[in-house]
Amino acid sequence: MGSAAIQGRLWGARARDWACYVEQVSLPLFGAVLDAARVTSGTRLLDAGCGAGLLALLASLRGAQVAALDAAPGLLAIVRQRLPGAEVREGDLESLPFADASFDAVTAVNSLFYAADMAAAMRELARVTRPGGRVVVTAWGPPERCEFLTAVMPGLGPLMPPPPPGAPPPHPGALSEPGALAAVLTAAGLRVVGEGEVACPFVFASAETSWRGNASAGINQAAIAHSGEDAVRAVYADADRAHTRPDGSVRYENVFLWAAGERP
Ligand SMILES: C[S@@+](CC[C@H](N)C(=O)[O-])C[C@H]1O[C@@H](n2cnc3c(N)ncnc32)[C@H](O)[C@@H]1O
Repeated sequence: MGSAAIQGRLWGARARDWACYVEQVSLPLFGAVLDAARVTSGTRLLDAGCGAGLLALLASLRGAQVAALDAAPGLLAIVRQRLPGAEVREGDLESLPFADASFDAVTAVNSLFYAADMAAAMRELARVTRPGGRVVVTAWGPPERCEFLTAVMPGLGPLMPPPPPGAPPPHPGALSEPGALAAVLTAAGLRVVGEGEVACPFVFASAETSWRGNASAGINQAAIAHSGEDAVRAVYADADRAHTRPDGSVRYENVFLWAAGERP
């Protein structure tokens, strides 16, 4: 296995909190991705790095035939509850357990940059897509347009464990440079057919739900394991304080990027 064993443990630890408090902030992005992937009735879709399965659920409401893959068993248990009829697989983006050309469309929302070997993962997404089918991948926008990253990463960085020898640390800001997403699609042999950006404000009802949601993300679980929950919580308390609105809710403005590639 590539990075899936580590990532699966991290992302599965507090899966319910991810599904309750965080996943829905990406709803605007999920809609744009499904449109870019041309998901409609009968589309055979794979959502790779599916998390708790909200995009897969939306695709099934469009009438798609959905498969979902993730490294985290805790998240996949939620996907199975939400989508009893879907093919739900535990696996690794870097070696997908599907035959060549199995899908009309493949999506990977904010999962590709967690793969230790992003190029290998991208080749796998392309391999399982049929000729003429689409792969849509996403990334955080530029840091200066993502309040969440600029508020949290400077404090979080020093609390993270050192990356494995020879590997760059997984960073949510990877692939946010102009042209980076299109370049990974092209390198995997896909023809870029669309690119766009979507505003996805992160809104939490309170600082408490912000913490519960954010603590469930794999990157924060890694920091908690390395530096302790109190230290990580303090980073979020500072960031949330600066982004708390008069009604007590917490809001960060962010932009996410997507790019669509077609398999020749
Ligand atoms: C930021 S979450 C995004 C989840 C979902 N796509 C969403 O937008 O809500 C990243 C997801 O990628 C998964 N992931 C990370 N590395 C992976 C790998 N190597 N193979 C499979 N899944 C992986 C994690 O378990 C997690 O569910």
